[in-house]
Amino acid sequence: MKLFIDSGNVEEIKKAYAVGVIDGVTTNPSLIAKEGRDFMTVLKEIIEIFENRKDVSISAEVTSTEVQGMLAEAKPLAKLHPSITIKVPITPSGIKALKEMFKLGYKTNATLCFSASQALLAAKAGATYVSPFLGRLDDIGENSQKLLKEIRSIYDIYELETQILAASIRSHRQVIDCALVGADAVTMPYKIFEQLFQHPQTDQGLKKFLADWQTHNSRG
Ligand code: E4P
Repeated sequence: MKLFIDSGNVEEIKKAYAVGVIDGVTTNPSLIAKEGRDFMTVLKEIIEIFENRKDVSISAEVTSTEVQGMLAEAKPLAKLHPSITIKVPITPSGIKALKEMFKLGYKTNATLCFSASQALLAAKAGATYVSPFLGRLDDIGENSQKLLKEIRSIYDIYELETQILAASIRSHRQVIDCALVGADAVTMPYKIFEQLFQHPQTDQGLKKFLADWQTHNSRG
């Protein structure tokens, strides 16, 4: 399962990348706006971080709502680097644009997916990834795991190649739930990535190992 960082913060992405287990980045207009920096500058800096890695994915979202506008925005983004994955909302225009982008050979991420029918349309349009927003579904009392299982089953039954990129992650437990259901990738905020490492028993165990080792060495 691929692990992505969901962030527009270059320093966070650098720290996550340095660990050596990150396969890509997702951004969205809100994450970019939060940083208050120029979109293209941020994207270029993210691309530089992953320069030595092949097969990474860096999602950059279009903000037009019409097909031609989406395609016009996607063109310079796709030219930036082969890792750039054009993020397109699943609307009727978005699905048309995804199909056109497929023909142009762009990598794409069908975003704002909240239902299995939307995921089916995204796969039919040839999206590279589909992003079900799990946390936002749970926020409104829906069952995001059920959605994930439905998408997995539909894609498996029909051997659809679109990869499931689980998004809107709220906890480190949710990352494991996604892994158990067979998500191809999970994108998470940096703070959730940090939580993947943590367990109190690891800290306590390490403390004791080091203390015992010090006692042993000081004896002799
Ligand atoms: C995914 O691609 C989105 O950027 C993201 O996961 C949305 O998460 P949020 O619901 O926490 O804003």
